[in-house]
Amino acid sequence: METDTRDKVIGIAAMADGHLLSDSRAGIPWELPRDRTFFRNQTKGQKLLLGRVTYDEMRGWFQDDHLPCLVSRNSDTVSLERAHHTAASSVSAGIERLNALRSGPIYVCGGAKIYDLALPLCDELLLTRVNGRFDGDRFFPAWESTFRLVSSESFPPDKWNACGMSIEKWVRNTH
Ligand SMILES: NC(=O)c1ccc[n+]([C@@H]2O[C@H](COP(=O)([O-])OP(=O)(O)OC[C@H]3O[C@@H](n4cnc5c(N)ncnc54)[C@H](OP(=O)(O)O)[C@@H]3O)[C@@H](O)[C@H]2O)c1
Repeated sequence: METDTRDKVIGIAAMADGHLLSDSRAGIPWELPRDRTFFRNQTKGQKLLLGRVTYDEMRGWFQDDHLPCLVSRNSDTVSLERAHHTAASSVSAGIERLNALRSGPIYVCGGAKIYDLALPLCDELLLTRVNGRFDGDRFFPAWESTFRLVSSESFPPDKWNACGMSIEKWVRNTH
């Protein structure tokens, strides 16, 4: 009997009303330490897939136990050596590379372009829904018709977190 040895692919993102992810010049417009902690705990020691823009923004954040894979069309960027980091020229090649390194889930960490390309390959989504309307130009793609919501936990605003938020888990529809 054949078994599926493909690692689970999980999209992880935070978005405000209208699926807004960020502004490409000003960055992420909300300040939510609670969401940062959630992201850090969830991805600790994990395999990560990131577009070149998001990789550059997060460069100083990676820990030694992370296995990030940068996705870029630029062959010079892809061929650059980075300690513990890999690179690939497409989303599917990046997932293949991470699959080959060690077992465990692959977290797709954005940004907008990479979420768009990777969504058809995602088995699950972990979405922080930020309660608020913000300006920006980067958006998460529509996922609602191909995934179903399996859990949602809400958090009210407090003195550290200016907005309320919910953390939702969605899994791909099987039919
Ligand atoms: N709210 C959130 O949860 C969240 C999470 C992550 C990021 N973000 C935000 O998202 C924004 C960045 O998103 P973005 O869409 O501008 O950039 P991105 O997805 O991070 O990276 C885009 C880059 O990926 C590479 N790429 C794109 N298409 C490709 C393809 N078909 N094959 C191979 N490589 C390809 C290109 O790199 P080269 O130019 O090197 O070829 C391109 O410039 C930032 O503002 C960031 O703060 C928000």
